[in-house]
Amino acid sequence: MSANTGLEGIIVGQSNLGWIDGENGELTYVGYDIDDLARHTTFEEVAYLLWNLRLPNQAELDALKAELAAENELNDYILDMVRSFPRDSDSMAALRTAVSALALTDPEANDNSDAANRRKSIRLTAKIPTIIAAFDRSRKGLPIVAPRKDLSIAGNFLYMLNGEEADDLRVRTLDVALVLHAEHGMNASTFAARVTAGTLSDLYSAVVSAIGTLKGASHGGANMRVMEMLVEIDNSGVEPGEWVRHALETKGGRVMGFGHRVYKATDPRATVLRELADQIMEGQDTKWLRLSDQVRETMAQEMEARGRKVYPNVDFFSASVYTTLGIDLDLFTPIFALARITGWTAHLFEQYANNRLIRPEVDYIGPRGLKVVPIENR
Ligand SMILES: CC(C)(COP(=O)(O)OP(=O)(O)OC[C@H]1O[C@@H](n2cnc3c(N)ncnc32)[C@H](O)[C@@H]1OP(=O)(O)O)[C@@H](O)C(=O)NCCC(=O)NCCS
Repeated sequence: MSANTGLEGIIVGQSNLGWIDGENGELTYVGYDIDDLARHTTFEEVAYLLWNLRLPNQAELDALKAELAAENELNDYILDMVRSFPRDSDSMAALRTAVSALALTDPEANDNSDAANRRKSIRLTAKIPTIIAAFDRSRKGLPIVAPRKDLSIAGNFLYMLNGEEADDLRVRTLDVALVLHAEHGMNASTFAARVTAGTLSDLYSAVVSAIGTLKGASHGGANMRVMEMLVEIDNSGVEPGEWVRHALETKGGRVMGFGHRVYKATDPRATVLRELADQIMEGQDTKWLRLSDQVRETMAQEMEARGRKVYPNVDFFSASVYTTLGIDLDLFTPIFALARITGWTAHLFEQYANNRLIRPEVDYIGPRGLKVVPIENR
């Protein structure tokens, strides 16, 4: 038996949700092209699509929005907990902890029925933006802003972060970013969620596993690292191309925001985000976009010279888009979770509906046949 340590190419189950054609740079959710969804739907419509495998009509969308609005507040237990977090807490650790705590006051936490799981998914999707915004305000010593009932998830999130309503372009920009991040097939955090659910553990535990997995720099943590890199380049005074070439030689050969396990062509989400970045930065200081372009051009030349299919991924442009929206760098990955909760939970519905324990094997390479020597003789 030989080991496939990254599990690439291994099919671990069936799904109706995200489908990726990595060679041609295509992504669909339930059969709809991501570009079409990003241009013509909202995040709430995509949540409905992932949870019900079809787009909603107006009445169904209104009903979902009402259910989300009814669940977007945090109880005092969670609010006090978020207020008690150390101000320098890692933002993903804070989110992971608060989401785990939500289970403690949810009487349905251990009910694995499909109906209860759907209700919990609405609660989580409604409450995660409120948790992130409350954490951000609290650590800055600002009063926590209660969620509104009349705003979209994207609009409400920006409102709770800043204490004032954002303009339509900003809301739409974040909304599109959420659509783009909602689902992505059997990515690492979705896999982690499904592995946890596969033991018949509860939906909250599965989502906590997913958040912990998303946190890593090779997955959701990359968007934050991209911005750190752009700031580092800006502060270094070094020409961006030269900085990239140096990084390729010295930093383990990795430049954040490039490469993908599945895409061997341009990540289609990056294309949509690039357009958004252009729109939102129009008339503003386009420093980050300029820097991004220089990094991208150098990477294209360097990767071509090395014969590698490495292209910008979604995180590359989301970093400058979120920065232009005035969002703190360490909230980028929590925002990814805010969007991906819909994909995670949709996968969990599939997992619970057709469950089998996920339990692979390891290629054992250690010693065999040893005998225990009494402790006094070791
Ligand atoms: C996402 C990622 C972990 C995928 O890794 P993977 O599927 O294991 O890909 P590999 O490590 O096998 O990379 C294949 C080749 O491309 C190169 N490569 C991949 N990503 C690269 C990057 N970001 N910068 C430079 N080279 C890269 C590798 O060096 C490797 O070259 P080699 O075959 O000559 O050794 C990897 O691309 C990465 O670390 N990217 C940066 C972090 C990031 O942006 N993550 C977000 C993903 S949405």
